[in-house]
Amino acid sequence: MSNDEVMVHSDADVLTAAAAARLITRIVDAQRARGVASIVLTGGGTGIGVLRKVRESPANAAVDWSAVNVFWGDERFLPEGDGERNETQAREALLDHVPVDPRRVHPMAPSDGRFGSDVDAAAEHYAEVLGALAEAGSDRPVPRFDVLMLGVGEEGHTASLFPATPYVRDTEHVVVGVHDCPKPPAERISLTLPAIGSAAEVWLMTGGAGKAEAVSRALGGAHAVDIPAAGARGRERTLWLLDRQAAADSAAVTAPATPEQGITPP
Ligand code: 6PG
Repeated sequence: MSNDEVMVHSDADVLTAAAAARLITRIVDAQRARGVASIVLTGGGTGIGVLRKVRESPANAAVDWSAVNVFWGDERFLPEGDGERNETQAREALLDHVPVDPRRVHPMAPSDGRFGSDVDAAAEHYAEVLGALAEAGSDRPVPRFDVLMLGVGEEGHTASLFPATPYVRDTEHVVVGVHDCPKPPAERISLTLPAIGSAAEVWLMTGGAGKAEAVSRALGGAHAVDIPAAGARGRERTLWLLDRQAAADSAAVTAPATPEQGITPP
């Protein structure tokens, strides 16, 4: 497992722009190495803000969008096209504006699709989708994820894994149907921590003073059951992309002397 690395940017706008630049570069590098890149998207203001910045960046023309596999780390279980679905927001922010191959875009099922209102069946199906695309010879039941992006909630949730729920403890499944979620909507679909941990790189991206305590607890070694974001770790890299406000309470992250500063906690 990788050690956490922390990058602090001056504000949320710089954070999303810098993460977008990083994402474009990471996709281009993966395509150079393997011909194709696989990315896992997230919702929330930061995650969608990053996609918007990718769309606005002239550098996005360096990406072969027809060779990008797109997955989601979690989804609100709502009808197709609902404005609160992470898929809908990601399409509006980026995917509708770049020449992705629709066959490589793998959204989680909506609540009015072939599984109807059965969120567990929808979750099971997504696990099958991931399993079918797993690398030949790999013992991981998911594709190679080059970058898996996540947001962080004020109470430390990430993807749709909330503190002290059975879902954050789940080590049996790749994808879970989430019931009784404390943040609406009550039903969601989420990758589990082991599935998240299969990604080469996990990027936890968050800004604002409301996230400072959760970030500080995660970087301070909190248990994943208490602060789920603390359990999201990439195989090769775990990168926290923060703004100054979100980093403010973290003992290991001292006030940046320069506008942008990276640190690696001991
Ligand atoms: C949800 C949200 C949520 C969000 C985090 C971070 O599904 O309810 O998407 O999980 O990603 O709360 O949100 P911000 O990036 O807006 O801080």
